Amino acid sequence: MRYKKINIVTAIGAIMFSVVYLQCKSSKPADPRGDLYAGAVACSKCHSNIYNTYLHTAHYVATVAATVNTIHGSFAKNFNVFNFSPSQKIIMEKRDSGLFQTYYLNGKVAESRRFDIVLGGVKGESYLYWKGNELYQLPVSYYAKQNQWLMSPGYMPGQVYFNRPIASRCMECHSGYIAGQPGEVQRLTAAEQFDKSSLVMSVDCERCHGPGAQHAAFQTNNPRVKTAKFITSFSSLPRARRLDVCGVCHSGNKSPMLKPTFGFKPGDTLANFKLPDFARAIDTGHLDVHGNQVQLLQSSKCFINSKMDCATCHNTHQNQRDNTSFYIQKCLDCHSAANHNFCKMANTLNAQFIKSNCIQCHMPALPSGVIIAPTIAKGTSADILVHTHHIAIYPQQVKKVLAFINK
Ligand code: HEC
Ligand code: HEC
Ligand code: HEC
Ligand code: HEC
Ligand code: HEC
Ligand code: HEC
Ligand code: HEC
Repeated sequence: MRYKKINIVTAIGAIMFSVVYLQCKSSKPADPRGDLYAGAVACSKCHSNIYNTYLHTAHYVATVAATVNTIHGSFAKNFNVFNFSPSQKIIMEKRDSGLFQTYYLNGKVAESRRFDIVLGGVKGESYLYWKGNELYQLPVSYYAKQNQWLMSPGYMPGQVYFNRPIASRCMECHSGYIAGQPGEVQRLTAAEQFDKSSLVMSVDCERCHGPGAQHAAFQTNNPRVKTAKFITSFSSLPRARRLDVCGVCHSGNKSPMLKPTFGFKPGDTLANFKLPDFARAIDTGHLDVHGNQVQLLQSSKCFINSKMDCATCHNTHQNQRDNTSFYIQKCLDCHSAANHNFCKMANTLNAQFIKSNCIQCHMPALPSGVIIAPTIAKGTSADILVHTHHIAIYPQQVKKVLAFINK
């Protein structure tokens, strides 16, 4: 009798197992990165405050689907035209079938491509379109400061083309994930072949925190446990490893890559993915203010003589852009306000003025040599400005600031 019972139980167990197993096997993992990843929406179930503020950050908008709400340039008549030359123009068109950039040569349609993906949403936006399994950049971008449609960075003035391929390297810094076409051998000369369905938009939670499915499952099954399991705590990492997390995307793109950074997790050493930029780290003059925040900060006395890291000043879960008083408070956490003589200038200047301008004098916004609108002359006020992270004394900048207040 007993024997029979066990047999029935085993049989039912086996049936149940195979049903569950087959279901699991036939259904794709919830996240294109595989079973170890949960996706940001899963994190939002327990970390809803963080998730809701994160939706307003630059990391979230790093890649988003193109819609009338995510494209900030105008589709209104007369504002939706970019003239390359008297005979060549691009019109941004809103049709029932979607949003398009259409190239008119001597008044005739020469090429028309859909806005599929928006890349960026702070200083500017570039747009990508799918052609089969390949990704290309559209010729016209939107520049926020100018509030205008202008030629995309990297384009030659006067030439209109739709074939600037977007490589996985762009996506390594601007998205959660994208995979190559399975079995496809990537050729250096041709556009990369992507698996379209694998794209994870945004620099998402798991780009900074590493795979979190096991953490999410554990905390779901153990709601009484209030401490975190199976997720790396930033505070447990030494400073060099914490900097490496941001350095995946904020330490430039000049040194040779050893392997794609999509697999990078907090705790990993970035030098195993990308050779460090030693020569440039010493010579800050050669570092562009855009994208090299790690090396620039590392060269500052503030960094050398303290334990600061990026999170000392930035809470990456929130949009703190242009919140100058917030950032100044960070300076004053270390440079005591009580001692106004931290700047000798404080004797001659209104203390209130000094206090509200640390950033302008010591982390000035300087023109980027990398993100440039090809139609804007370098050195003009239309340059795209980025705050340098080499915190220092800039006599030229101080003169400018003083000239401005003495006006
Ligand atoms: C079922 C609930 C739940 C889900 C889902 C969840 N977490 Fe957590 N998480 C927690 C709890 C509980 C803690 C511990 C308390 C705290 O720090 O908020 C925690 C802590 C953390 C910490 C801090 C770890 C530390 O020790 O400093 C990080 C980072 C984190 N979670 C990231 C994530 C990410 C990324 C996801 C999505 C992949 C996620 N969590 C999904 C419940 C959850
Ligand atoms: C996977 C790549 C990636 C990682 C990792 C990353 N960032 Fe970023 N970060 C970006 C990109 C791309 C942008 C610009 C996005 C845009 O404007 O669309 C950006 C923008 C920013 C900005 C500007 C925000 C604004 O509102 O203008 C700050 C500050 C920043 N990152 C800090 C950090 C810090 C601190 C870390 C580490 C904890 C970090 N980032 C990790 C890719 C990354
Ligand atoms: C090594 C990482 C990295 C790579 C590779 C990279 N970017 Fe970026 N990109 C960034 C970071 C970081 C920012 C913004 C922060 C800053 O200004 O330093 C940014 C800013 C931008 C912006 C302006 C976004 C905004 O909101 O202002 C655009 C557009 C852009 N990148 C396009 C591209 C394209 C196209 C490629 C590939 C040809 C590319 N990037 C490759 C890291 C990268
Ligand atoms: C650009 C990188 C980046 C992204 C994207 C990011 N985080 Fe974080 N997160 C950090 C860093 C850095 C810390 C540690 C902050 C510190 O040391 O003060 C942190 C801390 C945390 C903590 C523990 C401390 C706290 O603030 O409660 C949780 C929980 C967390 N993150 C969840 C998330 C979730 C959920 C998402 C996505 C919605 C997310 N993070 C997206 C970089 C990031
Ligand atoms: C975590 C603490 C900390 C924070 C935050 C901090 N600093 Fe510093 N800073 C220091 C230390 C330590 C030194 C070195 C002092 C010395 O050498 O006597 C320093 C040096 C400086 C110097 C002198 C640089 C030089 O080359 O001579 C300036 C200017 C400065 N800080 C400005 C700022 C500004 C502006 C901010 C805010 C954006 C800031 N600091 C944030 C700790 C900090
Ligand atoms: C001492 C404070 C401080 C530290 C530390 C710091 N930042 Fe910043 N960061 C700032 C300030 C101030 C701005 C200008 C913000 C604004 O006005 O919106 C800024 C802006 C940025 C921007 C946007 C670029 C721009 O000017 O538009 C990026 C990207 C960035 N920081 C990344 C980083 C990274 C990565 C680290 C660590 C290597 C880091 N920051 C460390 C103070 C700091
Ligand atoms: C008008 C430009 C200007 C403003 C605004 C300004 N500084 Fe300075 N700062 C200077 C100059 C110039 C020096 C070098 C000469 C001196 O010490 O006065 C300096 C020096 C410093 C030093 C190094 C002092 C030393 O003894 O080596 C620190 C730290 C500093 N400033 C922090 C700050 C902080 C924090 C703020 C905002 C509360 C600020 N500064 C606002 C121009 C400025």
